[in-house]
Amino acid sequence: MKKVLSLLLIMTMIFALTTGCSSKTDEQPAENTTNQDTAAQAEKEEDNTLVMYTNAEFPPFEYFEGEKIVGVDVDIANEIAKDMGKELVVEHIDFSSIIPAVLNDKADFGAAGMTITAERQEQVDFSISYVESIQHIISKKDAEILDMEGLKGKKIGVQLGTTGDLAISDAVNLPEGDLYNSGAEVKTYKNALEASQDLLAGRIDAVVIDKLPAEEIVNGNEGLKTVVFGDISEAYGICVKKGNEELLNSINSTLQRLLDEGKIAEFIENHSK
Ligand code: ARG
Repeated sequence: MKKVLSLLLIMTMIFALTTGCSSKTDEQPAENTTNQDTAAQAEKEEDNTLVMYTNAEFPPFEYFEGEKIVGVDVDIANEIAKDMGKELVVEHIDFSSIIPAVLNDKADFGAAGMTITAERQEQVDFSISYVESIQHIISKKDAEILDMEGLKGKKIGVQLGTTGDLAISDAVNLPEGDLYNSGAEVKTYKNALEASQDLLAGRIDAVVIDKLPAEEIVNGNEGLKTVVFGDISEAYGICVKKGNEELLNSINSTLQRLLDEGKIAEFIENHSK
């Protein structure tokens, strides 16, 4: 009995010793951090992925189908990745965080039905334009909102940081703006779909967003209509970090091919209700 007990004791000690040792080797000494960083960087350079950031709340350009992000921009990005021999990774984020993600290298590029504007061009480089668009107003069918004039004194929903937001905020807040001092108010939302829920619930009177997303929302919700707003046409581009010419050239040649083949029109058709 004593023998069994001492054997057990020895075994417990050996066990304690080995586990003690192994947990020590798991801990990384502090001076290894830099090695790890370089390893991570090397791995990133070797990795074959192409990372796209988008805001998947903008059908038909990008939207969730279950857990999956799909849409015109995803179809385009898949073609870009295919032409480059890379594997596409798509990440969803707030629209206003896409350019910052490109700037700090989290994203290789941003594709989000993003309008090429002079202001954004100060921060990032844009591809050739691949879609023309224009702002639209969504309102209840019976509302007498047909143009900018009809927005006077109204509560207007926009998606934060979009060109629709900028146009309406300027019109409301600038002394020379068409809606200045008319009692009109701007309400910003994370996305146009949320804004439309508030419109349906009567909390706001109108939503201003790009043409095709406006049409998607109207087609998906009884009782809404959409009219064109203003006459400023917008051009969509894909953005990359300033000076990333190699990637921009690849993106441009794929976009040009898709435009020549009529593929972009096809992608739009496929993703529209
Ligand atoms: N074209 C507009 C802009 O550039 C709206 C884009 C919104 N895109 C999105 N994926 N939510 O500001």
